[in-house]
Amino acid sequence: MKSLSYGRQWIDEDDIAEVVNVLKGDWLSQGPTVKRFEAALAEYIGAREAVVFSSGTAALHGAVAAAGLREGDIMLTTPMTFAATANTALYMGAEPVFADISGDTLCMSPIEAKIKLSESSRKIRVILPVSFAGYPFDIGPFRAMADEFGAVLIEDACHSLGGERAGRDGRPRKVGRDADMTVFSFHPVKHITTGEGGAVVTDGAEYARRLRLFRNHGITRSAGEFEEEAEGPWHNEMLALGFNYRLSDIQCALGLSQLKRLDMFIGKRRELAETYSSMFAGVEGVCLPPSLEGHARHLFPIRVGAEIRAALFAHLAENGIRSQVHYIPVPMHPYYKRRFGYKKGDFPEAERYYERTLSLPLYPSMEFADVERVVGCIKNFFRKN
Ligand SMILES: Cc1ncc(COP(=O)(O)O)c(C=O)c1O
Repeated sequence: MKSLSYGRQWIDEDDIAEVVNVLKGDWLSQGPTVKRFEAALAEYIGAREAVVFSSGTAALHGAVAAAGLREGDIMLTTPMTFAATANTALYMGAEPVFADISGDTLCMSPIEAKIKLSESSRKIRVILPVSFAGYPFDIGPFRAMADEFGAVLIEDACHSLGGERAGRDGRPRKVGRDADMTVFSFHPVKHITTGEGGAVVTDGAEYARRLRLFRNHGITRSAGEFEEEAEGPWHNEMLALGFNYRLSDIQCALGLSQLKRLDMFIGKRRELAETYSSMFAGVEGVCLPPSLEGHARHLFPIRVGAEIRAALFAHLAENGIRSQVHYIPVPMHPYYKRRFGYKKGDFPEAERYYERTLSLPLYPSMEFADVERVVGCIKNFFRKN
């Protein structure tokens, strides 16, 4: 029986040919394919700049650094995310503070965010909501709060590449146009993959400049940025502390090729999600994920009774279906509890959601028969229990 997992990549012969082409060429890293991928990504989103990184985590790190997050600052984020989102504040010596989610969107609640912003005695320099599962939450209130409190708005859109939300004129535009910086991941379970990889898109030229410095040790070779007189054509200057967070040309070749199929991938994800939703209609005990036009459908997280979630997870696994739980709320991890004193009950909505959720298989190469099999397996479980 075919094994199904909650997510997986879709690599075709064109992808392989593009990667092989780069392997046969002169540039494996720091070459022209990086710039081509960045240009294609910026064009797809409709943003001025795209800066690629070696992972979504590195891209988030770059974004908070470019935002000027520093020691003693606060970064406001959501507890319902992958640990990497919040960890980036710690990398900068800042503290992540969590605003609970709204049960309707599973994303950061603007009401909770406003409370945290108003209560904070320390500078909240970054507001970092996550478009969880691909849900393009209403970003307007966060934009307004960032402007009111003088914070930089960064969207963690690692789940929502290719998603859309309405712009000011009411017309849909790609996720990646609304925040000061928007971060994507190209991990194999995401909408497109480069193996590992990520990107920040922005309209801010200064943010892009800082991002490029940050991913390359803080070193520039661009004469316009030099602080000292060039001593020769070899001259380069390290202007800030950075990292080697570069994405190789090999990976960018894969990314470029995958990007051509992104709209098809999203279309398939949306069709599969609709199939799930219609097949679950009327099934008692299963609560469907929130739906919205423009949803990027990275995950399909259903909610079931907390008392049966583990048994359902095991039942699916016995039948070759590997579901997943997204996520243990970040402040409930031992490291965060130990370091910041968080305890059970601090984030009631996120915790309640965590106890009941299960992400079902959803990826573009899945067949409708696979969805039928998953739903059939769950219905069987309910019949027996
Ligand atoms: C919401 C979110 N943020 C950040 C990341 C980190 O991305 P990466 O795995 O590419 O480092 C992930 C990855 O799963 C994620 O889901």
